[in-house]
Amino acid sequence: MFNNKNILITGGTGSFGKKYVKTLLKNYTPNKIIIYSRDELKQFEMQQDFNQPCMRYFIGDVRDKERLTQAMNGVDFVIHAAALKQVPAAEYNPMECIKTNINGAENVISAALANNVSKVIALSTDKAANPVNLYGATKLVSDKLFVAANNISGGHNTTFAVVRYGNVVGSRGSVVPFFEKLINENAAEIPVTHNEMTRFWINLQDGVDFVLKNFERMLGGEIFVPKIPSMRIVDLAKAMAPNLPIKIIGIRPGEKLHEIMCPADDSYHTYEYDDHFVIAPSIKFSSRSNDFTVNLIEERGQLVDSNFEYNSKNNPEFLTVEQLLTFNQMAEQ
Ligand SMILES: NC(=O)c1ccc[n+]([C@@H]2O[C@H](COP(=O)([O-])OP(=O)(O)OC[C@H]3O[C@@H](n4cnc5c(N)ncnc54)[C@H](OP(=O)(O)O)[C@@H]3O)[C@@H](O)[C@H]2O)c1
Repeated sequence: MFNNKNILITGGTGSFGKKYVKTLLKNYTPNKIIIYSRDELKQFEMQQDFNQPCMRYFIGDVRDKERLTQAMNGVDFVIHAAALKQVPAAEYNPMECIKTNINGAENVISAALANNVSKVIALSTDKAANPVNLYGATKLVSDKLFVAANNISGGHNTTFAVVRYGNVVGSRGSVVPFFEKLINENAAEIPVTHNEMTRFWINLQDGVDFVLKNFERMLGGEIFVPKIPSMRIVDLAKAMAPNLPIKIIGIRPGEKLHEIMCPADDSYHTYEYDDHFVIAPSIKFSSRSNDFTVNLIEERGQLVDSNFEYNSKNNPEFLTVEQLLTFNQMAEQ
């Protein structure tokens, strides 16, 4: 699907972007892979590892529609990964988060339509489901923009979908590197916010593979949610630092005890497939398929029970302390 194609990744120098590029180069022969992000140093460093002839590096901000439109010239597929994603930073700097995550999403949509890009997938997060923090709220707005973009008529063939998943093991600024730092500094204890806190847990490669697959599946308008395991944060602490006592420090502003991927309120338009869920649009498209029971590769899904909710607490699949150890080690490979 990606052979001889031009692919643009906003936020391509981030954790997701680099793994995505690595996977694309391993399995396909794209014509061009365009990395679009702001910081020249991150791009310079990425060029040391990825300097294949198909690689292109564009300095640009998703807040800048003109630059995005220029960068998407001739592009077939876009993965929108650029975001501000630190929950506390978003609470303190709400307008910055809104400009990048919401205005940026709008610009990606306009630039893709202007260039007749074939397919766009935007990355989202479980924090966008029934959000309680600004980061999640901006991602929910972004999700809505991408879903509704499929309804923009006027001869455009671009389709847009969203991929929503949970915490990525070991990503920048997340709990695993935080615990690792404390362990390396010989901390006397491991701080955990709440004894019962659970999170969805995915490794980056699975996230990347899921996004790649969804380019084949998408009709346009879906929020794709992978079926992934949950874990208890206390179990993660036990797996990573078995000899250190755990100190409960209390839940932080903007945090939930458990995360949701498919809210109960969306159950009347959520479909269960073998290894994922599809939250179909609540709006009807005027010139697009509205049948989300079958996708482009002929997989079939079934409407979930009314009030079904896919959340990290009731998830049938939980990782044990031992499984977490193996899971985290695998994620580092
Ligand atoms: N990591 C997780 O646990 C997780 C979980 C669920 C969903 N997600 C979603 O997955 C996506 C990728 O996450 P990640 O972990 O790869 O993030 P990351 O490592 O922090 O990377 C973010 C990327 O976005 C770029 N960026 C930030 N602001 C930008 C702007 N205004 N214009 C252009 N580029 C910008 C950054 O580069 P510059 O700073 O150089 O611009 C960087 O390349 C995000 O949308 C995030 O919400 C992540």
